[in-house]
Amino acid sequence: MSPSPRTDALASDQLSVEHLLGIKDLIPADIDLIFRTADGFKEVLGRPIKKVPSLRDITIANLFFESSTRTRVSFELAEKRLSADVVNFSSSGSSVSKGETLIDTVNNILAMKVDMVVMRHPDPGAAVFLSRHVGARIVNAGDGTHEHPTQALLDAYSIREKLGKVKGVRVLIAGDILHSRVALSNIFCLQKLGAEVMLCGPSTLMPKHIEALGVKVERDLDKALRWCDVANMLRIQLERQGGDGIANFPSLREYAMVYGLDLARYKRIGKDVVIMHPGPINRGVEVSSEVADHANSIILDQVQNGVAVRMAVLYLLAARIPRNAV
Ligand code: CP
Repeated sequence: MSPSPRTDALASDQLSVEHLLGIKDLIPADIDLIFRTADGFKEVLGRPIKKVPSLRDITIANLFFESSTRTRVSFELAEKRLSADVVNFSSSGSSVSKGETLIDTVNNILAMKVDMVVMRHPDPGAAVFLSRHVGARIVNAGDGTHEHPTQALLDAYSIREKLGKVKGVRVLIAGDILHSRVALSNIFCLQKLGAEVMLCGPSTLMPKHIEALGVKVERDLDKALRWCDVANMLRIQLERQGGDGIANFPSLREYAMVYGLDLARYKRIGKDVVIMHPGPINRGVEVSSEVADHANSIILDQVQNGVAVRMAVLYLLAARIPRNAV
């Protein structure tokens, strides 16, 4: 039986997609290819000269319509390590404030011969919308409450690095699932790689019918922690709470008492659960400082791996640009 084009990404060393819009669109072989490529770039990042010429003929625009520290800096570093030309745009101080549409803004930037766009946007679906209307490779750097694919890739890559595998690993995702693009992308990515996923959080922050995605749901954080090998403690998205005028929990203090991970609760688990957090951390809310900085925390490894993983994504997507179009 000949392999279908959609499952042959590993054999051809080429991604099955032209844009990275969400993990949902990827096949497991794409993720494996991204990880193997990131392994090579991680070795490059350990050298005295942390730079390769791979994308010296490519220009990338980073368009950030929403705040970011890690993703923005990580993409810019990844692009510069690959020798791409880089242009940065943020919506504040731009003509967006004069009423220019997203498509007009991006097409004006592309008219200056830009090949790839990395975009963060507050609206779910903004990256998919853009990919249908402009002629450049699009990388979703987080679209509202929808997906954050490179975060999920670097999270799974960091689990693979720490535990030597992802298949069969039990991963707890705890906290504000309702507003989290990281949760959705992580669920898709971990399941494609054969991990088991459990969600835990207040019922007001748990999307209805989320079990339909094949995840376990547990309300009791202590039980969930005893089940897992890895605990990914999500940020309470303070900026997205109470959109309908109703508070999702009484106070941050009460949230921290019931759903926060402090050292006493961590010690009660009785095993070396790996601690993760996508950042930015609300210290003392999702995790205490002792837990964030614990020997079993890989929070800064996640950030470090983000550069190699994003280099891999950009490199593999650029490989799909016809060279005579560059
Ligand atoms: N993890 C993450 O997306 O962080 P930033 O919002 O700082 O980019």
